[in-house]
Amino acid sequence: MGPFRARNLGVGLLALLAATGCTRTPQSMLHPAGPVAEKQLELLKFDLVMITGIGVIVALLTLFILYRARVRVPGGLPPQVDGNRRLEIGWTLAAALVLIPLAVEPIPTEFALAAPPPGEKTLNVRVVGHQWWWEFDYPDLGIVTANELHIPTGTVIQLQVTSADVMHSFWVPRLGGKMDAIPGQENALWLKASEPGVYLGQCTELCGTSHANMRLRVIAQTPEEFEAWVRARKNPVTRPESDLAARGEAKFKQTCAACHTVDGTPFQGKVGPNLTGVGSRTTIAAGMLDNTDENLARWLENPVAVKPGSLMPNYNLTKEEIEALVAYLRGLK
Ligand code: CUA
Repeated sequence: MGPFRARNLGVGLLALLAATGCTRTPQSMLHPAGPVAEKQLELLKFDLVMITGIGVIVALLTLFILYRARVRVPGGLPPQVDGNRRLEIGWTLAAALVLIPLAVEPIPTEFALAAPPPGEKTLNVRVVGHQWWWEFDYPDLGIVTANELHIPTGTVIQLQVTSADVMHSFWVPRLGGKMDAIPGQENALWLKASEPGVYLGQCTELCGTSHANMRLRVIAQTPEEFEAWVRARKNPVTRPESDLAARGEAKFKQTCAACHTVDGTPFQGKVGPNLTGVGSRTTIAAGMLDNTDENLARWLENPVAVKPGSLMPNYNLTKEEIEALVAYLRGLK
């Protein structure tokens, strides 16, 4: 092996190590951050040990048999045997016995995760998948937001997952999951974050052109920080703070309000994401872009160029209109 190939092999092995979770990854179920994900990881580890064990035993037996039954006389055949009943019964029973623990092990976990432990503080959130963004509705708080799910730590988050169009699937690997979002059906899933942090998630059911761009983030906050967020959402900034932003508001009324809601204003469109407080979100376009003036302008200039298939069309806005809309939207805190 030449030095070049050896180096390639080394790089390949390192990449493989990285991919198997030897580095901290933001979207890996191997680094659980809550009790649901921890239980699911225990299950994975048990299965991994069992399956690896079976795989190693089968591989060793195969090598042993290959060695024992190899042809010693060129052109000759080993003695031919046919249908050993004891062996047939033996390996059928052995396979069944091996499968029993794999089948039984998950049962207590499934019961434990079917519903949250009784008596715990609970926050209800309705999750609605859309092509290609996520709606988060807090029915008890009267808040609707998109793509960034704020939750308090140490609280059971009871999710009712559904879809407005096609099938999606809600998954935040470090917190647990996943759960299909099916039109006309509500599927329950609960999660809990032990520590504050940002946990990335992703739609995991092929749902069309921008399936891979249907991202989400769970922003877990201390209960005090979460309360502050709820207060801010319930008393949002709705008035434009400059002449430029006022021109943006007028354009918004004309072009955007049929699809988007801003709480506390007459703009109550329900087709696209609720934009109340959009200026204080960390990302836009379902987590594709950081929320900056430049990125928002890029999005408004041509949404489909940013997110292929985006149902928000290109409105051929002028540079001045985009600048005004950015000033208005970024001011919605
Ligand atoms: Cu929604 Cu994939």
